[in-house]
Amino acid sequence: MSRKSHWEEIYTGRTPGQLSWFQDRPEPSLSLIRACGLDPDTRIIDVGGGSSKLVDHLLDAGCTNVTVLDLARHPLEQSRARLGDRARAVEWIVADVTAFDPPHPWHVWHHRAVFHFLTEAEERDRYRETLTRALVPGGHAVIATFAPTGPTRCSGLDVVRYSAESLLRELGPEFELLDACEEQHTTPDGVMQPFTYGRFRRSGPGS
Ligand SMILES: C[S@@+](CC[C@H](N)C(=O)[O-])C[C@H]1O[C@@H](n2cnc3c(N)ncnc32)[C@H](O)[C@@H]1O
Repeated sequence: MSRKSHWEEIYTGRTPGQLSWFQDRPEPSLSLIRACGLDPDTRIIDVGGGSSKLVDHLLDAGCTNVTVLDLARHPLEQSRARLGDRARAVEWIVADVTAFDPPHPWHVWHHRAVFHFLTEAEERDRYRETLTRALVPGGHAVIATFAPTGPTRCSGLDVVRYSAESLLRELGPEFELLDACEEQHTTPDGVMQPFTYGRFRRSGPGS
């Protein structure tokens, strides 16, 4: 089964609130994104956003340039239905981040619970190339993965676990680490999952 079919199937027949990674209010993502210095024109992309409510909260905060990208179409349709008319203000992209040709750059790149599924070094190289092309010089990346003490598998797939420092090594010398924190995420079934969050800045003038 292709990776896309795998993820389409995961979302089929489940409501967003039944998914292990569900958050009603996606903290600490929101506070790390706010720390990037938002104004209404800041261009933000949620990569592998699925049916996350991050987009709802960004619109509530007055952001007018929000993009949500995911490999699977189904969760994006769920988010569009949830947002109703407000969905028209959002750019929706169905694409694989490791083979994505950015149509324009963003100031803030957000990515939660996706990078850890890239278990091959070659995929991570392609991810880094895409990130570097998609982010303006001086732009910020907020990336969250399972922490070193987190689960070794999710949704039937193996994962790679990271500290903020090992995430920085993956991003390479063009990035610096600005903030990091750990979240003890509780799944809808009551299981604790430690996540690492990092806020990174691409070198260059301020975004
Ligand atoms: C565990 S979910 C996390 C969803 C969301 N980021 C959140 O925190 O609620 C992983 C998401 O990444 C998407 N995904 C997996 N591999 C991807 C890839 N190579 N490119 C883009 N999206 C991908 C899946 O379809 C799924 O929506």
